Amino acid sequence: AGKNSNLLPIVLYPDPILNKKAREVTLEELRAGKADNLDLNELVMRMVATMYDAEGIGLAAPQVGVGLRLFVADVSPERNTPFSVFNPVLKDPNGSIEEEEGCLSIPKVRAKVKRAESLILSGLDPQGQPLNLPVEGLPARVCQHETDHLDGVLFIQRIGTAARFMLRQKLRELEEDY
Ligand code: NI
Repeated sequence: AGKNSNLLPIVLYPDPILNKKAREVTLEELRAGKADNLDLNELVMRMVATMYDAEGIGLAAPQVGVGLRLFVADVSPERNTPFSVFNPVLKDPNGSIEEEEGCLSIPKVRAKVKRAESLILSGLDPQGQPLNLPVEGLPARVCQHETDHLDGVLFIQRIGTAARFMLRQKLRELEEDY
């Protein structure tokens, strides 16, 4: 894929930005389309472009160095149905299922993570309209993974000690490259 100027650099583990809690975007900021001197529509557009370019299914604002509660995702096979949510809140988690996950900020590391099978995603769309979306399966997993990013939590913090022990070499390599 050709590089274009819309792409944002992805923050990589172990950058401390990834462990910081992001702040909520206010309704006033959403209405103005601006927060922290950033144009929010442009930010969303560039995050979506960056996610597609990196072949990811989700990307949270802290992963592009922005400490706002926002993520973008697209779990469609056609890669043509992006959605974005500000201030996501996950409600009514149901069930538990373990599946392999990866993260654009932790290249080449994958591990099984236990997550709720279904939940309600609430939050605000880029126009500031409230959103209440039942999600299950992969979309539910992505919502949990991305919302974790907004709380400064990485998926490698959600796996057992034994699984983390297995990954220690790869993580050390990323720490040395940083
Ligand atoms: Ni991630």
